[in-house]
Amino acid sequence: MGACHFQDLLLLFLVGASTLIMAQKLFCQKGTFVGIQEDPANTFNWTSEKVETCDNGALCQETILLIGTGTKAAILATKSCSLDGTPAITFIQHAAAPGLIAISYSNYCEDPFCNNREGLYDIWRTQETEEEAKGTTGLRCPTCLALGSCLSAPSLACPNDTDRCYQGKLEVSEGNINSVLEIKGCTSIIGCRLMAGVFKVGPLWVKETCPFRSISARKVDSGATWFHTSVWKLKLLLMLLLFVLGGSASGP
Ligand SMILES: *[C@@H]1O[C@H](CO)[C@@H](O)[C@H](O)[C@H]1NC(C)=O
Ligand SMILES: *[C@@H]1O[C@H](CO)[C@@H](O)[C@H](O)[C@H]1NC(C)=O
Repeated sequence: MGACHFQDLLLLFLVGASTLIMAQKLFCQKGTFVGIQEDPANTFNWTSEKVETCDNGALCQETILLIGTGTKAAILATKSCSLDGTPAITFIQHAAAPGLIAISYSNYCEDPFCNNREGLYDIWRTQETEEEAKGTTGLRCPTCLALGSCLSAPSLACPNDTDRCYQGKLEVSEGNINSVLEIKGCTSIIGCRLMAGVFKVGPLWVKETCPFRSISARKVDSGATWFHTSVWKLKLLLMLLLFVLGGSASGP
């Protein structure tokens, strides 16, 4: 009876130890993609044939950032092992249709090859149907989407429910990606907030800048400084003048 109990315990211990050893070796899909595609919901295949062997304690991750104007989207995608993060799926709609769209999806998981998402149909499809249903407003905006810089930005009519033009850049780094995106188009988002203030997407770091905005802000700032100093100088000059006048008035 006692011996039997001991054997059970030993078996449990051995099973426990072997699952521990198995858990230490994790394989994940590995790959990156950066590009612009028409109709990504139906054309993009995210499967990677490459395999990465992870260090102890790692997870698999797959992360994608999609920036779209109409049916065209810039895709920045990465799959790899990851030593940061906890098992979770995160889906964020940073900017929604109509107008410019920014969406991110990231999946951290702990089973072998669990970062195996193939398509984007359920992430991206909802965007297109929404866009088609709307008419256009009288507003027109320069519109473009490019890796690096836009070569041209034709002025296009804006869909209903958009009321301003956006112009900005996203610098995406880490996660084996190092790219700059230029984006122009119609939107209803206010300010330089296409990412809605989210700058970490899975392993990716995203820096958003809107050059026109910051340049004009700087102009106003330095103008104000100049104004202040000139007023201050004028006051000093006046005081000096009064002092001189006062001095000469009280003189002989
Ligand atoms: C994506 O590519 C993989 C292999 O490259 C293939 O097995 C799979 O069927 C493709 N998926 C789609 C939806 O085309
Ligand atoms: C779009 O805007 C136009 C002009 O403002 C308006 O006539 C039209 O009804 C709107 N369409 C929708 C679907 O809201």
